Amino acid sequence: MPMRKAGELSDATYRKLAHLMYESIGLSLNASKKPLVSSRLAQRITRLGLDGYEAYFKLIASQEEGGEFQMAVDLLTTNETYFFREAEHFSVLEEELGRTRPESVSIWSAAASFGDESYSIAMLLADMATQGRIGPNWSILGTDISDRVLRSAKTAIYPETRLRHVSLERRRRYCLKGEGDFQGMAKIQDKLTEHVHFGQLNLCRPIEDIGPFDVVFLRNVLIYFDDITKREVVDRVLSRLRVGGLFFIGMAEGRVACDTPLESLSPGAFRKLASKPGSP
Ligand SMILES: C[S@@+](CC[C@H](N)C(=O)[O-])C[C@H]1O[C@@H](n2cnc3c(N)ncnc32)[C@H](O)[C@@H]1O
Repeated sequence: MPMRKAGELSDATYRKLAHLMYESIGLSLNASKKPLVSSRLAQRITRLGLDGYEAYFKLIASQEEGGEFQMAVDLLTTNETYFFREAEHFSVLEEELGRTRPESVSIWSAAASFGDESYSIAMLLADMATQGRIGPNWSILGTDISDRVLRSAKTAIYPETRLRHVSLERRRRYCLKGEGDFQGMAKIQDKLTEHVHFGQLNLCRPIEDIGPFDVVFLRNVLIYFDDITKREVVDRVLSRLRVGGLFFIGMAEGRVACDTPLESLSPGAFRKLASKPGSP
């Protein structure tokens, strides 16, 4: 049977779709993104046998809490990530923790994707705990809007290519090599996973009572938001970071405007400062 084609994405449907995505997850889709959106959704519409983009819009608008809406989020954002991405940030973190030698450390990876960032941090903290440079009470919370990536993160199984920046010693220490059907895959060992937890969280909604954290990673997610949303998200996230704590955004994301006072340490790395009396 011939497959039904997705047809044309009309301006009216595109505007409704862009509005829905902006209101629900802060995703900023201007007119220039229309060809990208239409090509990313076309295959899915064909696969579902739907009668074009308007039918697809109606479907996702009716399932905003999950189902096909989650699929659309995955298609319109990118979950790209890998272990020790932007390695300089891990050096800044190691230096800071080595200097302060905290008894406990609590870290939030606020756009965790498949969990590569969370487990990279876990490898560093586990090494430092073994060396007695931090105490044994360390934990990492990874959150994301996408339940698909979170389900994968919880399995802690990765293609070895994503571990390309992990040293051989760390791979030996913290990963199990897959065999048979799992050839070419690696599983993160329990001695790390027991310190790492994952949960779903939309950065564009009020944040429930989590933290306060000593360190927050908010890397490579601000690109999806317009300037107003960026500012709101950054201040909302920073409200969960202790004064003096470290804050990381993607190295290419520049200096974000926000109301929370920050000291810039290096590209994408900041320290939260105390607010001046009388300021918000
Ligand atoms: C490119 S990944 C970044 C992964 C990791 N932080 C890194 O730098 O490698 C961006 C992630 O942001 C998530 N995301 C997009 N909008 C979000 C929102 N409103 N709330 C929470 N997560 C969101 C996406 O699902 C995606 O997994």
